[in-house]
Amino acid sequence: MSRQLIAGNWKMNGTRQNAQGLAQALVARLPADAADVVVCPPFTLLPLLADSLAGTALALGAQDCHKAPSGAYTGDISATMLGEFGVSYVILGHSERRQGHGELDDTVREKAIAATKAGLTPIVCIGETEDQRESGDYTDVLGWQIKGSLPDNFAGVLAYEPIWAIGTGLAATTEQIAQTMLFLREELVRQFGEAGKAIKILYGGSVNADNAAAILGIPEVGGALVGGASLDADAFLSIVSAAS
Ligand code: G3H
Repeated sequence: MSRQLIAGNWKMNGTRQNAQGLAQALVARLPADAADVVVCPPFTLLPLLADSLAGTALALGAQDCHKAPSGAYTGDISATMLGEFGVSYVILGHSERRQGHGELDDTVREKAIAATKAGLTPIVCIGETEDQRESGDYTDVLGWQIKGSLPDNFAGVLAYEPIWAIGTGLAATTEQIAQTMLFLREELVRQFGEAGKAIKILYGGSVNADNAAAILGIPEVGGALVGGASLDADAFLSIVSAAS
């Protein structure tokens, strides 16, 4: 199995001052044999972090991009523009964007295509609501999200984030994650054939220093997408240390 990927999604958090301190602490204490690690700050901090992280093992990511390379799209940022700041990953289709900005699977797929064209690795998020989990419909939901959000020849990472586990402090159980990961792998193979076996699948939703080892040890878990705990150097480094 390839190295696991630990991605820190800072969401709408961070000032120039504390971002610099956090990035420096991570770089200084990143284990030599660490998993692949990427931090995804808000757009405003990308120039600063591009300088701080240049030449280090810590990769830089963004939290969204537009589907077009340029044009009349007020307030948007293209994947090409992100590439100018040394960004190598971009989170797409996070549930906070699907819910807060009305992003649909089609848009997410187009953004993933644009990101790949610009040389970035898309981290495409999918996940079910609590109601969908409880009604038992969640596998249908996840299957459709994969079908709609991932382009043909997908060259990125899939992040499974049950919406009910995001920011709640209540991660999915290891049994729930294990079972869902197996379903996702089967679905990827069904939709992409042999290539589906190689697509990395991250788990996200209340990953922290205490539960990281158990979650990262589950078969098919290719890493973690970490929100709240990625804002704390000690917690994030513990998660990184638990990865292989
Ligand atoms: O992108 C990260 C996820 O939304 C998880 O956030 O670790 O704060 O639950 P969380």
